[in-house]
Amino acid sequence: AITIYVAQDNGERVELEAPLDMNLSVMEVLKANEFPVQAVCGGMAICATCHVEVLENGQGELPDMGDDEAYMLESLPHATESSRLSCQLRVNPDLDGLVVRIMPEA
Ligand code: FES
Repeated sequence: AITIYVAQDNGERVELEAPLDMNLSVMEVLKANEFPVQAVCGGMAICATCHVEVLENGQGELPDMGDDEAYMLESLPHATESSRLSCQLRVNPDLDGLVVRIMPEA
């Protein structure tokens, strides 16, 4: 398993364990840990309700953004340079140590 951190508004970081052998997305890990991620579209990159800001990369690079994800993020007024759709981040060793902040919905 790898460790993913969720930054809270109070500055604390909640540590989550994400198994490597279940082909989960970061969105699914957040949901499984009862974070308020609606993920209305179920991971299709068309709802943006799984929007996160990546505060720190993990061990390796993040995966490149697909066209769908980039297009969705462009439409969000509060997206930042570090915004990603968490449903498009597959849990893998590169993400070990990733720090994200859950962003407001679209
Ligand atoms: Fe809908 Fe990620 S779950 S865009």
